[in-house]
Amino acid sequence: MPDKSVSSNIEAPVMEVVRIRRSSRAFADKEVSEDVIKSLFEAARWAPSSRNEQPWRYLYATRSQKELWGKIFNTLTEANKIWVQHAPLLIVSMALKVFSRDGAPNPTALYDLGAANAFLTLQATSMGLNVRQMGGFYPDKLQEALRIPPEFEAVSVMAVGYASQPDKLPAELRERENAPRMRYCQPAFVRNEIFY
Ligand SMILES: Cc1cc2nc3c(=O)[nH]c(=O)nc-3n(C[C@H](O)[C@H](O)[C@H](O)COP(=O)(O)O)c2cc1C
Repeated sequence: MPDKSVSSNIEAPVMEVVRIRRSSRAFADKEVSEDVIKSLFEAARWAPSSRNEQPWRYLYATRSQKELWGKIFNTLTEANKIWVQHAPLLIVSMALKVFSRDGAPNPTALYDLGAANAFLTLQATSMGLNVRQMGGFYPDKLQEALRIPPEFEAVSVMAVGYASQPDKLPAELRERENAPRMRYCQPAFVRNEIFY
C-alpha cells in the first residue's frame, strides 16, 4: 500500500517561488500593468515543449477592458464568480491540439500548456502576484464567447492580481483561505523501485 500521509510542511529545500506560491482567492484593488503582463507571457514563452511546437495560446483581459473581461467572467461557474469578481486580470489558456507542421494530433499539447502555465505562475509569484487557475468554466460558452477556433482547446482560466487579506470574501471562503495547504508526502507519488 502506498503511504498516503499528508503534511503542510516543506520537507526539502526548494526555490523561494515554490515555497511562497499559493492560489489565493483574495485580490487587492490594484491593476496589473502591461509591462508585468508581458513578463508573465515571456516566462511562458520560454517553457519547453515537444518538438518545440509551443502549442500554448493565451487570451487575456484586464478589468479596464470591461467587455472582454466580462465575456470571460460570464463563462465561469457560479462558485468561481464569487471571488473572481475582484480579479484585475483574467487569462484564458488554450492548447493547439495538432502539430502546425503536418496537422497530426499532438499528444503532449496539454502537457506543454501546463508547463507554460507553471512558468507563467512562478514568474507571477516572483513579481509579487497571485494566480489562481480554474477548470471551473463552461468550455462551450467560452469557445463561443471568444470565438476560439476549433483547433484550440480552452484548458484553464487564470485569475491574476495582487493578493490581499480575504476580508471581501464570504465567511466560508475566508475560512478556506486561512486553512493550511496540505500535500501528499513524497512516498505517495515517488518510487525508487519497480511496481509489484
Ligand atoms: C487545472 C486547475 C484547475 C483549478 N480549478 C479551480 C477552480 O475552478 N476553482 C478554484 O477555486 N480553484 C481551482 N484550482 C485551484 C486549486 O484548487 C489549487 O491550486 C489547489 O487547491 C492547491 O492550492 P495551492 O495552489 O494554493 O497550492 C485549480 C487549479 C488547477 C491547477
